[in-house]
Amino acid sequence: MMTLKNVNKIYDPRTDIAVHALKNINLNIEDGELTAIMGVSGSGKSTLLHILGCIDTATDGEYILNGYDVQKYSSNTLAEIRNEEIGFVLQNFGLMNDKTVYENISYPLIFNPAVKYKMMKKLINEAAASVGISELIKKNVSEISGGQKQRVAIARAIVNRPNIILADEPTAALDKKTAFEIMEVFRELNAKGKTVVIVTHDRSIAEKCRRIIELDDGNIVSD
Ligand SMILES: Nc1ncnc2c1ncn2[C@@H]1O[C@H](COP(=O)(O)OP(=O)(O)O)[C@@H](O)[C@H]1O
Ligand SMILES: [Mg+2]
Repeated sequence: MMTLKNVNKIYDPRTDIAVHALKNINLNIEDGELTAIMGVSGSGKSTLLHILGCIDTATDGEYILNGYDVQKYSSNTLAEIRNEEIGFVLQNFGLMNDKTVYENISYPLIFNPAVKYKMMKKLINEAAASVGISELIKKNVSEISGGQKQRVAIARAIVNRPNIILADEPTAALDKKTAFEIMEVFRELNAKGKTVVIVTHDRSIAEKCRRIIELDDGNIVSD
């Protein structure tokens, strides 16, 4: 489903501040996989995740997502593909703290004119239930714990029912016990059929995944 062929990413190419962040990456991630991308800070993990998520593009090489050659699409079309296919979860949750849990989860649906009010309510309740936060739905985000916030962020990422969930250091802001609980949420979503890719620098977190891809200085050094 996600295939990278000879992908390079060079930031600021042809300048004296050029950074070769990904070096000739070849990678295939199948439907339904639960994969960790591991490596130290600066090894290229976020860059790789951003390319997989169509947030950024490769400098050269090919990225095929669900049979579509990503290089060939305009940024508008890519944004549509991203909205339909991919849910993103970030380290620091990226939530609106002065809004309710419900409002935060609803956010991606506001941009989807095809989703009517009644459908919206159903999707939001469904997403909240699948990460175990149904009882928090009316609370303000400022009133809930870090682990609960990350559940809200995951509910927001899945509310459009994407097939792929990409998470960049989703447990880095959490204590160990809460981090493992969040990994359990990802594992459950994967068991229900979602393809999940998690970036982490923490081996104990990566070991909760079936596959571990290790990056070092822009190279895949183990898989
Ligand atoms: N927007 C950017 N502009 C220039 N260099 C960048 C940018 N983003 C990342 N880099 C560089 O690319 C390399 C890989 O970064 P990154 O993918 O963020 O690694 P990781 O997520 O593993 O910490 C690092 O050397 C980083 O400084
Ligand atoms: Mg990073």
